[in-house]
Amino acid sequence: MGDADNLEIIVDRDECIGDGACVSDAPETFEMDDEDKAIVKSPVSDDKETILEAARNCPVDAIIIKDKATGEQLYPED
Ligand code: F3S
Repeated sequence: MGDADNLEIIVDRDECIGDGACVSDAPETFEMDDEDKAIVKSPVSDDKETILEAARNCPVDAIIIKDKATGEQLYPED
């Protein structure tokens, strides 16, 4: 159990352009599917900060991270 267990991780497939930065940054969380879009692995095993960094590095902000417990959106910030 890592500290990422409290995160809800979503890839917006309409936004994803297949950049792949998320897979490089957090390879235990994201992988590319056969349409060259990122999907979230199950289970994820990167830590929270690694996953947030991957979300920040997505050039089109296709990755949305929420705190499962509070529902607060951690990224993108408003
Ligand atoms: Fe897609 Fe962004 Fe990852 S464009 S492949 S979600 S870095």
